[in-house]
This record gives sequence, C-alpha cells and structure tokens, in this order.
Amino acid sequence: MSTILVTGGAGFIGANFVYYLLERYPSDRVVCVDSLTYAGNLSTLERALADPRFVFYKQDIRDRAGIDAVFEAEKPDAVVNFAAESHVDRSIESPEIFLETNILGAQVMMDACLAHGNVRFHQVSTDEVYGDLPLDRPDLLFTEDTPLHTSSPYSASKAAADLLTQAYCRTYGLAATISRCSNNYGPYQFPEKFIPLLIANCLADKPLPVYGKGLNVRDWLYVTDHCRAVDLILRRGRIGQVYNIGGHNEMRNIDIARLICRALGKPESLITYVTDRKGHDLRYAIDPEKIHGELGWLPETAFADGIRATVDWYLAHRPWWEAIVSGEYRDYYERMYNDR
Ligand code: NAD
Ligand code: DAU
Repeated sequence: MSTILVTGGAGFIGANFVYYLLERYPSDRVVCVDSLTYAGNLSTLERALADPRFVFYKQDIRDRAGIDAVFEAEKPDAVVNFAAESHVDRSIESPEIFLETNILGAQVMMDACLAHGNVRFHQVSTDEVYGDLPLDRPDLLFTEDTPLHTSSPYSASKAAADLLTQAYCRTYGLAATISRCSNNYGPYQFPEKFIPLLIANCLADKPLPVYGKGLNVRDWLYVTDHCRAVDLILRRGRIGQVYNIGGHNEMRNIDIARLICRALGKPESLITYVTDRKGHDLRYAIDPEKIHGELGWLPETAFADGIRATVDWYLAHRPWWEAIVSGEYRDYYERMYNDR
C-alpha cells in the first residue's frame, strides 16, 4: 500500500490525476494538498471526498510548517507537484504570485521530501519552458534536449522550478523526475482556458475571442493521457530524468474555434478576432519518443473522441462551470476581454 501526495488536486489536471489513482490502484491512499485559489474547486473532488482512501488538506505549498505537518501526519511515499498558477494571461497581468507559488512553493515541497527520508518527487512541468517553434518548420519538435527559452512570466517560473528540481537532484540527491506536457483538455478545466472558454461562450451565444489571427498552434492532449504518463514516470521513470509528454496533435486556434462551433451547432460568426496576447508563443509541438521508447507510453484518446467527450461533459455539468463564470471570474473576464 502506498500513499501518494498530490498537490493542486482541486485543479484541472490534479483532480483528474486523483481520480486516475483512486480508480487504478485500489490499495493506494491519496492525500491532496491544495490552497483552493480561484482555480481550485472542492466540488471537483466530491466523489473522492466520499472515498476513505482520500484525504484533503486546504494547505498552501508555500507554507513550510503546514507542509511539514502534512508530511508528519501522512508519511507519503511519493509527491506529485501539480500545484501552480497556470494561466499565461494572468501571469502577464501579475507575475509575482507565479514566482512565489511555482518556484518557492516547489522548493518547499522538495525540502519536505528531503527532510522526510528522500520521498520520491515528481515535478509537473510544461512544454512552454522550451519557448516556441516557427510556424513554417513542421519538421521541428521539442525534445528533452531543446534549450529552455521562455516567453511569459508563467513559463519562466516553470523553467525556474525545473532547474531547481535538477539542482536538488544533483546537489542533495533528491529522487526526482520532471515531465513536460503539451496543452491538456478535458473535464474540470477552468473556463479561462481556451477550449472550455469557447464552449461556455458558445452556449451563451457570446463572442469567441481568438487572439491575433488565430494561427498559433497548440499540441492538444486529452487529460487522462497526461495522467497516465505522469503515473508511469512516477513508478518506472529514471531518477533525474526529464520526460516530454504529447501526442502529435497540432491544431491552429482558429480551427479549434470552428470545431467547437460545429460541435455545438453554433454559427462561426461568433468568432471574434481580438488583440493578440503579449509575447504569444507561435507553435508548440512535442516529440514524445523518449517516454514511448522507455516506458511504452502512447496517447490512447483520439482528438475527435476526446473533444466530443469534453463538449458532452460541459453540457452535462453546467452547474459546475456556471458557478465559476458567475463569480470572481466575471471581473477577470471583463478586465481581460472588454475593449480588447
Ligand atoms: P489549475 O490552475 O487548473 O490548477 C492549479 C491548482 O493548484 C488549483 O487547484 C489551485 O488551487 C492550486 N494551487 C495554486 N497555488 C497553490 C498553492 N500556493 N498551494 C497549494 N495549491 C495551490 O492548473 P492545471 O491546468 O490543472 O495545471 C496543473 C499543473 O500542470 C501546473 O503545474 C501546470 O503548470 C501544469 N501543466 C498544465 C498544462 C495544461 O494544459 N493545463 C499542460 C502542461 C503542464
Ligand atoms: O502548453 C502547456 C500549457 O498550456 C500549460 O503549461 C498552461 O498551464 C496552460 O494554460 C496552456 O497554456 P496556453 O497559453 O497554451 O493555453 P490557453 O488555453 O490559455 O491558450 C491556448 C491558445 O489559445 C493560445 O495560443 C492562446 C489562445 N487563446 C486563449 C484564450 C484564453 C485565444 O485565442 N483566446 C483566448 O481567449
């Protein structure tokens, strides 16, 4: 029996990971640490909270004493660090909290792992640490050896945490791995992110804001495929290694917007081009050969199936996201999109 501590488990990917573990490993316990920022939602964990193998702590990862107390009480065998400020646009507006949570919070988690017997640590990073690729070179992909070259305060903070993880591995012998995944989509994603924002706006017949000309490319992966990859790395990955995660599924933003219109039977005239994101990365594309070769991972969800399942999930769970879009998020939305 193992105890896995998941930080950020009330957010999008962390919650999907909690459910993945509980379903796949009947004898494991899952301890979730999350400070419930605007992006964390306890209702997402409702089913987990009913499971005696699950424990939730409302706890900030920057708080050393609090994190130490969780380690003392729960004695985790492994830690997966999802907790982060994750939205690029918010990082452009207010970078500081990104540095505090994404770098210093990660350091607190690593220190706690070392202080409690070198607990296995996995840092969930992002393909954004590599910067971007040109639109006219489809042959170029991010490998684990691509130099770090960040564009936003968000990606800079994630790259800093990656470097710190590698430094802790080398200097203190921390038993750590890092994964860098491409864009996720699926259930429980906060509607500030592109795909759920398009779905929510479409259903309300509101304009669909597409930055610039909509030609930027993202490499979309269904969230459960990401969770399975992280789990494999945690259990079978080589200590000290970085693993890229992605499924060769590059799409232009404008094509995603059109696809969501079609899926919901709404007119493409809802699509509205707005001022581009500052420093907007052009294209992300992952080469997943290392994780495929070493751990046998391949994505299992085809984009057509994953996007259908995602649209259906948002249709079937209106109260979950309607509660979000009517709260604090409304002020953010007005700030970000009015007069854009
Ligand atoms: P999210 O914003 O949906 O969730 C983040 C969670 O972390 C929230 O529950 C929030 O309450 C919690 N949190 C934030 N600050 C905290 C703190 N100081 N202490 C404790 N908890 C805190 O994010 P997500 O999209 O689920 O991303 C999860 C992780 O995966 C992040 O590290 C992100 O960088 C990485 N990632 C995301 C994607 C993607 O497409 N969403 C892709 C690759 C990597
Ligand atoms: O690549 C992994 C990263 O993917 C993660 O590390 C981040 O945490 C996650 O937020 C995501 O970052 P992106 O910036 O790529 O995702 P976002 O959903 O914000 O935007 C996707 C694309 O859509 C991007 O090119 C910007 C564009 N966009 C986004 C929004 C919110 C629009 O055109 N209009 C919008 O309103």
